[in-house]
Amino acid sequence: MPHVAVVGSFNVDHVWRAPRLPRPGETLSGEYATGPGGKGFNQAIAARRAGAEVRFLCALGDDAGGALARELAAADGIGLHALASHAPTGTAGIYTDAEGRNSIVIGPGANAALDAAFVAAQAQALAGAAVVLAQLESPPEAVRAALAAAREGGALAMLNPAPANAPVDAALLAACDLVTPNESEFAALLAAHGGERVDPDAVAALDDDALHALCRALLPHGSVVVTLGAAGCFVSHADPAACGDGDARYRVPARPARVVDTTGAGDAFNGALAAALAQRPGRPFAAQVRFANRYAAASTEAAGAAVAMPRLRPGDADAD
Ligand code: RIB
Repeated sequence: MPHVAVVGSFNVDHVWRAPRLPRPGETLSGEYATGPGGKGFNQAIAARRAGAEVRFLCALGDDAGGALARELAAADGIGLHALASHAPTGTAGIYTDAEGRNSIVIGPGANAALDAAFVAAQAQALAGAAVVLAQLESPPEAVRAALAAAREGGALAMLNPAPANAPVDAALLAACDLVTPNESEFAALLAAHGGERVDPDAVAALDDDALHALCRALLPHGSVVVTLGAAGCFVSHADPAACGDGDARYRVPARPARVVDTTGAGDAFNGALAAALAQRPGRPFAAQVRFANRYAAASTEAAGAAVAMPRLRPGDADAD
């Protein structure tokens, strides 16, 4: 069966939940929890729990964090292909507030060791993938190798350009078939490619023609899905018919949720979208995005990152 190959990070998340986020210089008291995370791993778990076969390419330290990644990947039936690094497994410090918002600092650790040679050597894991999905918590050369392998193997090359402060050069963008920024990442990409200055807080309120034009300038040959949090997302295609859609641009509303924690909601969306595209290739793209939106909304109703990814119930994938 065609699978999803995710190339990216694994982190041990250290999470402090407080009524609000701390201000600079301030000390707050909150509840502490730890668990698995990293944008790559979260997306791999989401794709798996959304029903796809998944291979996950990453770099891990020889420590408790690395062992946790191996154990959890095995428990979820994910094929793990890990470069063994001397650096400690990646970490993230996360503050979350009563509204489910968060601030994150990552310590890349072993994630920084993932390289193009390792990715290229995992030809077996990448061969036969329907979708190769990467993010930007891994070195650019590893991401480039992943996207190049997607193209060579006839898979969809999908990039979630997160976090927003990671550089994306023109060659990396050109290697993508589908790019899925949130508002901050979209604004950062626009500023870096073409110089357009857009306030991230103003992205959702732009009219559809303006948003579509910005997406087309950013990725003339492919599709862009701008995720807009509670406002859902905006889809822009170069070739709507090739994606099974009638419209080149449209919005998809978010599903209402009883939000507990938004950490990893973007990862839930990306993993679920990749899974849907791999498993149900004949479906209109709009239906795949609606599925991913529902999945992402459900992920916010539990605390944590990877552990909050919901498991599908019978019929969930077919509901529309
Ligand atoms: O997207 C959420 C993730 O960002 C967290 O799990 C954390 O590890 C950071 O990578």
